[in-house]
Amino acid sequence: MRSALRLAALAWVAATFMQPAVHAAEAKPSEAIKPGVDYHSFANVTDFRVRHVALDLTVSFEERQLSGHADLTVTRQNPAASMLILDTRDLNVRSVSLLQKGSDPKSLRFSYGDEQKYLGKPLRIELPAGTSSNLNTGSGESIIRIEYNSRPEASGLQWLTPAQTDGKKLPYLFSQSQAIHARSWIPLQDSPQVRVTYSATIHTPDGLVAVMSAAHGPVDSKADSKGRKAYRFEMKEAIPSYLIAIAVGDLKFRAISNRTGVYTEPGVLNAAAAEFSDLERMVAACEKLFGPYRWGRYDLLILPPSAPYGGMENPRLSFITPTVIAGDKSLVALIAHELAHSWSGNLVTNATPRDFWLNEGFTVYLERRIVEALYGERREKMENALGLQSLRRDLADLDNDHQHLAIDLRNEDPDEGVTEVAYEKGKLFLEFLESRFGRPELQAFLRGYFDHFAFQSIYTEQFLDYLRANLLSKKPGAVTEAQIKEWVYGPGIPSFAVLPAQDVFKHVDDARESWVSGKVTAASLPVRGWTTQEWLHFLDNLPRALSAGQLASLDEAFALTKARNAEIAMSWYRIAIRNDYQPAFANIERYLTDIGRRKLVRPLYEELMKTPKGATFARAVYARARAGYHPITATSIDAIVTPKG
Ligand code: BES
Ligand code: ZN
Repeated sequence: MRSALRLAALAWVAATFMQPAVHAAEAKPSEAIKPGVDYHSFANVTDFRVRHVALDLTVSFEERQLSGHADLTVTRQNPAASMLILDTRDLNVRSVSLLQKGSDPKSLRFSYGDEQKYLGKPLRIELPAGTSSNLNTGSGESIIRIEYNSRPEASGLQWLTPAQTDGKKLPYLFSQSQAIHARSWIPLQDSPQVRVTYSATIHTPDGLVAVMSAAHGPVDSKADSKGRKAYRFEMKEAIPSYLIAIAVGDLKFRAISNRTGVYTEPGVLNAAAAEFSDLERMVAACEKLFGPYRWGRYDLLILPPSAPYGGMENPRLSFITPTVIAGDKSLVALIAHELAHSWSGNLVTNATPRDFWLNEGFTVYLERRIVEALYGERREKMENALGLQSLRRDLADLDNDHQHLAIDLRNEDPDEGVTEVAYEKGKLFLEFLESRFGRPELQAFLRGYFDHFAFQSIYTEQFLDYLRANLLSKKPGAVTEAQIKEWVYGPGIPSFAVLPAQDVFKHVDDARESWVSGKVTAASLPVRGWTTQEWLHFLDNLPRALSAGQLASLDEAFALTKARNAEIAMSWYRIAIRNDYQPAFANIERYLTDIGRRKLVRPLYEELMKTPKGATFARAVYARARAGYHPITATSIDAIVTPKG
């Protein structure tokens, strides 16, 4: 979607290469979108509710599949309902049965509905109303067992060969369930308005460790007859399905405090423990501002470089890209972000994709509070300034409808609808409220909000009602209803927004200007002590066209082509591509094959596709790199480089 929204750029690409335009967003249904309705799930959540998911799965790296069963504890909400509809995507379901106390399971009839692009297909299980009462567990609940296996192409799983890992000896598996990929490895009601507790027994080949977004129980000390070990997990808090997560690999653990630590492959452990040594301080800072951390432990799992996202806030165990290990803690705002989701997102959850900004906008606001508390106001100002710049870049490419906080993503892949609007515009809305009511008042309000809606999923209008009752009413007239509407249902950045000052980068702008105008050489630029954020601001605001000589002098002075900081490298490579700076291309190729983080590779492919020469290079690199990408990244890059027929 993000690329599909770049209508102007795409029209140009299409005209240049005579390809049909990459699929634009499909037409919206003519009826108005209904708040609180999830158009990205087949589940009939008003008829039945799944309360608990108990998994027993065997991990097979040979077959690239998880195989076993899911026991769903279900309550019937509507006495007349006779069909339970679950979400699935590319699952092989072998059988469905009703578990009964004291007698054999009763097999249930099931069928599939039509497959739909990126939604998968509904699994319909017959649960006739009249027959269920005597089959219930006693509390009006039924337990339904689904025997199934995932397929090798499951969109939410990535199966890595040993060669794709740090250690090169053992394979690796990890999941990414948000937005709607849990259904590709578990049959369930895959909508964030449904919250479940879960438990799991995971059988892994000996020598590999399983972790999940849950507390782990005792691990079998001995392998079974097939050489497998069983790991047990339990998540006692009710969470949305997109937070169910698993990883299996050669994992070691290092504690950072008594409730925080990192899991990584052995070779990454030291670097990760050093980079994230502030983890406990981050949790403590967030607790001080927004209330207790309610999930017990907070650990990080550092994934291999193919991880499609920078971070994923799986409860108790955030999944993190290794590209944030810069060696100087300069990219740890991402950790603050994933941690902050333990309040905004995991505790209070968006009920539908339309409400995604409640997760991300709030989380960016909390993230900046943590960054400020730990690394100071100057660093926070830099993050804010960079955030505004990337919001403006996204807005320039988005049609009006996609600039709303409450966004209509019907008929769109929610993964492709992720833009800075939910993140940075959402954060600006909270900062606007802060400017009108004061920081202590806004923070107290947020703390109350997290308490009030703890462990619930809510939609935009529920938040707005709570806001009116608990903040706006404190100072009548400070914020008008029209202003609220403009923030949430209007495009762009409201004219009355309070924007972060860019003066924190004045010295960088001055330096850039003096070099661009030829007053000073690259080597004599005053870059000593510049942080990653200053470099990003310097690079991202260079003139679009630079000469080969200018690029060579920057590269010579600062070794940018060899930058080990993945974000700085990406910004530099984008410039190199734009200006066809050949000395960088070998490293660009290596970067695109080593790293699978969508936010880092997508802009490079987009830039490459703007010229025929770049497109040829992009296609050649992608042909080799694609097999190493996570399905989510591959789907996004397919839409950019593959000619549509
Ligand atoms: N929850 C998101 C990742 C996500 C969003 C996955 C939408 C699937 C669909 C996560 O918290 C996130 O926002 N990650 C960002 C980092 C953050 C610092 C902006 C990322 O991955 O870049
Ligand atoms: Zn996030």
